[in-house]
Amino acid sequence: MRRAMGRFATGVAVVTTSHDGEHHGMTVNSLTSVSLDPPMLLVCLTTGARTTEAVRASGRFVVNVLAARQEPIAMRFARRGEEHFSGLDTDLEGTPHSVPVVPGALIHADCAVEQSLTAGDHVVVLGRVETLCTGVGTPLGFYSGGFAAIRRYDDEQDLWFA
Ligand SMILES: Cc1cc2nc3c(=O)[nH]c(=O)nc-3n(C[C@H](O)[C@H](O)[C@H](O)COP(=O)(O)O)c2cc1C
Repeated sequence: MRRAMGRFATGVAVVTTSHDGEHHGMTVNSLTSVSLDPPMLLVCLTTGARTTEAVRASGRFVVNVLAARQEPIAMRFARRGEEHFSGLDTDLEGTPHSVPVVPGALIHADCAVEQSLTAGDHVVVLGRVETLCTGVGTPLGFYSGGFAAIRRYDDEQDLWFA
């Protein structure tokens, strides 16, 4: 399943959350946009991971879509036992966010958990997007088990969505 679905190229995001005064985060590529009005998205989080449990318990999370140069952040948040937030500013004062975010990410989508559903060995978490901050830059890609560069065809003049 993993090898087959690896043919479906994706971007890379980090889900961050806080519970009981502790910050948690994990790298994901299972991010899907679900609804525009109201704005909703989903992520699939492995059962039993600390981040998964903290998202369920707190009912809040932020999706940080990573830029190409943030591959080291993606690797750090994919490893257990790493100091995930070391060197990252976790002070929320003056920010519109409810949990720490990854600075310099292309999108910060601040979500409230709307529903969660256990599906096999993962939990499908449906989030209602309450605050959305977007930046510019090239996204980090993931394909066939490795990080990849994403490039839009420059000769394609007509964009599907402006
Ligand atoms: C590119 C990439 C994408 C990933 N996508 C997911 C995902 O969508 N869902 C998931 O549960 N784990 C995913 N993982 C694995 C988690 O990042 C990893 O298991 C994480 O360390 C678990 O978090 P924890 O430290 O809270 O236990 C992905 C890893 C990588 C490198």
